[in-house]
Amino acid sequence: MRELVAQVVLSHRQFIQPLFIDETLDKRTPFPSLNEINSDTLESALAQIESDLKSGISKFLIFPVPKNKALSNLNYDFATTAIRTIIEKFGDQIWLAADVCLCSYTLHGHCGILNSEGTKVLNHESVTELANYALQLAQAGADCIAPSDMMDGRIAAIRSTLDQHQLDLVSIMSYSSKFSSQFYGPFRDACRSAPQGTKLTDRKTYQLSPNNGNDALQCAIRDAKEGADILMVKPAAHYLDVISKVKSVTNKPVAGYHVSGEYQSIELLAKSNLVDRAKAQMEVWTALKRAGADVIISYAARHAKKWIEEIEY
Ligand code: PBG
Repeated sequence: MRELVAQVVLSHRQFIQPLFIDETLDKRTPFPSLNEINSDTLESALAQIESDLKSGISKFLIFPVPKNKALSNLNYDFATTAIRTIIEKFGDQIWLAADVCLCSYTLHGHCGILNSEGTKVLNHESVTELANYALQLAQAGADCIAPSDMMDGRIAAIRSTLDQHQLDLVSIMSYSSKFSSQFYGPFRDACRSAPQGTKLTDRKTYQLSPNNGNDALQCAIRDAKEGADILMVKPAAHYLDVISKVKSVTNKPVAGYHVSGEYQSIELLAKSNLVDRAKAQMEVWTALKRAGADVIISYAARHAKKWIEEIEY
């Protein structure tokens, strides 16, 4: 009876697996802060994708982590080489989204370009740079551009840049409702991208306030108008109300990103034998779907097929 009347049925086909590719590494390195997740070299990333394909996962979100950080003249060669190499090997077997943000490129770790005093993000300069980065990633072969920077107007800028270069088939998954959250802690550790050394010590001037759900909704509506194909809510599990509203107001495909801190809190509970790991992750996925998410981005995506098939919860 429970099966018959279930309103949510999970499918591994709607999962995206994040991948970290780090230029400084010479071998795959596990993240101490993210259970079971590794930082890959380009070579080990290829092996990881191959193994994920066997587990039924074919959609990926990649986070390139470059060796050199700078304040200007940012260099995206590592990211574009990584995408070219992956696409050369896997072609249409996979769907590849590339995160677009400046935080792992800038010395100060902010997601955009700062003024010389280091007190504020320069929106226009940042958007121009992000659109240039997105273009290079799309030219390298990314199927989807996923801007996570939260600058105003970047979706329109990226869309028109891509279109001007005949890249109209490249889609955009906008981190449209991205909150300034504590739950990115393990990720910042992984990407060495926490803000540092400037007067601007947090991302509150460009990421959304958890106290303002309407702002998140307005951003989603704006990004949809500017040309986003998929709207994302992030973090996901603590923002189910936002997922639900974005879905009902825009009727666009919505992605829920179960972020590093949300994922790791379940992993830590499981390590202490306080929850069943697979069942707890699946319960959250179900909640995201119930709220209205179509797409789920999860660090445990590569387990989705097996768990969904084999585990009753
Ligand atoms: C980059 C970015 C972040 C995440 C995805 N892209 C971190 C941040 O904004 O500080 C977080 C992902 C996660 O925590 O799993 N801007």
